[in-house]
Amino acid sequence: MSGPLLLSIESSCDETGIALIEDGRRIVANVVASQVALHAATGGIVPEVAARAHLRWIVPVLDEAWAGAGVGWSDVDAVAVTYGPGLAGSLLVGINFAKALAWVHDKPLIGVNHLEGHVYAAWLADPGTDPERPIFPLVALVVSGGHTFLVEMRDHLEYRLLGATVDDAAGEAFDKVGRLLGLGYPGGPAIQRAAEAADGIDVPFPRAWLGDSYDFSFSGLKTAARRIVDTVRADEGLPADDPEAVLSDAAVARLARGFQGSVVDVLATKTIRAAEACGARSVVLGGGVAANGALRSRLADEAAERGLPLIVPRPGLCTDNGAMIGAAGARRFEAGERSGLDLDARPSLPLARR
Ligand code: KG4
Ligand code: ZN
Repeated sequence: MSGPLLLSIESSCDETGIALIEDGRRIVANVVASQVALHAATGGIVPEVAARAHLRWIVPVLDEAWAGAGVGWSDVDAVAVTYGPGLAGSLLVGINFAKALAWVHDKPLIGVNHLEGHVYAAWLADPGTDPERPIFPLVALVVSGGHTFLVEMRDHLEYRLLGATVDDAAGEAFDKVGRLLGLGYPGGPAIQRAAEAADGIDVPFPRAWLGDSYDFSFSGLKTAARRIVDTVRADEGLPADDPEAVLSDAAVARLARGFQGSVVDVLATKTIRAAEACGARSVVLGGGVAANGALRSRLADEAAERGLPLIVPRPGLCTDNGAMIGAAGARRFEAGERSGLDLDARPSLPLARR
């Protein structure tokens, strides 16, 4: 075995993830218990329910990570855990579990920023694969349910914030518009599926460019969506005040593709512009919304036109998981960083400053 082996834990939001990662890259094990079905009933995450579910699942997830991994505690060099940003109660479950494991097995503890994990997912490799690695300097776009930002990295663990959302995250916009279109929770995957079934002309949605800045804004899109949906309902002859009268699948599909197109256009345009301005030698895409097929293919085309390598993890590594925490944690471990057993949850932990 080469490089350190980290046991890494993620519990910041609604996925309980535990992984074993060798050398910050090779996935020895990666198990994720998703709470999506649990939160679908309420149409969103109830923090208390999420924390209890982490508590329920964290031991079975660890057991499954060990099963078939072919390694044991004596092979592990450190325990890495997300300590922020995220929901306080959810973070605390993972942090306390990690502390107990580190203490009992006498291993160093490494606190990891969840957002750094989304960036470092780009270095992960599934067993038997050796995907292209990001090259510095790079520009990374992280788009998730809680965050949307662009950073420049000139080396490992060095971040300069180029821009961020001034209001909603891109994933939040997908989730809100998904609900508006009656597509359920989470909205992102549902909107992608609906959009893929669309034919004909997309319903046009506005784009918030915010001038030349690398900042983003998605809250206006939600307001626009409500107005646009009302117009389409009127076109279909549906009464405005009858929730039983639902839009046709064809109309929902055209709305979904129009909305997705607006988000993708702004994200891709600003990312490529930032990459060119920074003289980036590669572009990294991460976070739950990076699972979106339209965003992936648009950025792939634009990057290819400019001869820029685009590194996007497979969809399962874009959404929250323990493997990405092991990838980032390994860099911090090798840099000599150690967290004390007083490591606390930091619900608003930032990644970088401008
Ligand atoms: O990174 P993530 O798993 O959790 C956070 O840290 O927030 O991101 C979850 C977000 C949700 O808003 C979800 O709707 C969105 O990622 N998402 C997608 C897709 N898959 C997940 N958005 C668009 N297209 C997708 N295929
Ligand atoms: Zn995340």
